Amino acid sequence: MKRTYRCAILLAAAVLFGATAYAEKPKVVILATGGTIAGAALEPTDPGYKSGAVGVDVLIDAVPQLEEIADVSGEQIASIGSQDMNDEVWLKLAKRVNQLLASDDVDGIAITHGTDTLEETSYFLQLVTKSDKPVVMTGSMRPSTAMSADGPLNIYNCVAIAADPAARGRGVLVLIDDDIHSAHDVVKRHTTDVATFTSGEPGLVGVSLFGENTWYRAPAKVHTAKSEFSIAADQKVLPRVDIIYAHANMSPDLIAAAAKNGAKGIVIAGVGDGNMTAPALAEVGRVVEQGVVVVRSSRTNGGITRRNIEVNDDELGTVASMDLNPAKARVLLQLALLKTTDAKKIQDYFNRY
Ligand code: DGL
Repeated sequence: MKRTYRCAILLAAAVLFGATAYAEKPKVVILATGGTIAGAALEPTDPGYKSGAVGVDVLIDAVPQLEEIADVSGEQIASIGSQDMNDEVWLKLAKRVNQLLASDDVDGIAITHGTDTLEETSYFLQLVTKSDKPVVMTGSMRPSTAMSADGPLNIYNCVAIAADPAARGRGVLVLIDDDIHSAHDVVKRHTTDVATFTSGEPGLVGVSLFGENTWYRAPAKVHTAKSEFSIAADQKVLPRVDIIYAHANMSPDLIAAAAKNGAKGIVIAGVGDGNMTAPALAEVGRVVEQGVVVVRSSRTNGGITRRNIEVNDDELGTVASMDLNPAKARVLLQLALLKTTDAKKIQDYFNRY
């Protein structure tokens, strides 16, 4: 073969190979909402800092290795500490997630978020995301300026999961400290520990070691593409649901106050198996009569709150939260109340989601 032909063939092969390699790099959008992962302190050892001080571009630039695993772009959805997370940001985030995932140009989404309410936002997205494509959330316990900041590796692993076809169909996932959790199960268990998240009895969905993912299981409950819940384009707010924490000598006053102040639903973070004092229980009966939906959950953060154990839910008209803790039960009740106030139907949601 003439030398010029050989050169042309080699050149064409190189262009083709380059184009294929480029086309095969998964496209991941990072949606940033703030939190410690975007936090900044004055000193690397300063325990005090400001959440959400750093923008998404700075977070991406801090991890140049992302280029090797995905074609990454970033958008700023909010810049808040997640203690300030609210319905408005949830709705904005959910709508953007669904919009992006509907596009053939997006393979997965990574979301940065404060750790305080990550368990709630992830469960909210798990219920309203209309796609099997990966949606993976992460945060960090140390600010971006800290000595030994945990954010950059968490972002790297989070993007590696969002880019992994094996993450599809596993619902919304949370990556923290190498562990991959299901949004249904993940709970923050410690104020400062970098391994602050646990999935309790259901266990991890997988692990990620410097972007190499190992998968253990698929979440058992209904989620994402199969979920019956959705957010209307013009949805501006969600029904108000309050959580009331039970304790020894609990008075009924806060239950009555929640109903009086407009709560459409109340979740009791009950003692043990969703229990509360007799006066509190009597007040629950009264607000149920007024049309407020009351869900009994447990402040223990473990096990299942079942129907009719020490409380007669059938008589009282209450709902048992099953395996959802109070924070997650609140999310499901907000979405359930968009569809119905029938306690039996809502119990069916709690059994399945
Ligand atoms: N204020 C908290 C938040 O944004 C800080 C905790 C964190 O992000 O790790 O959720």
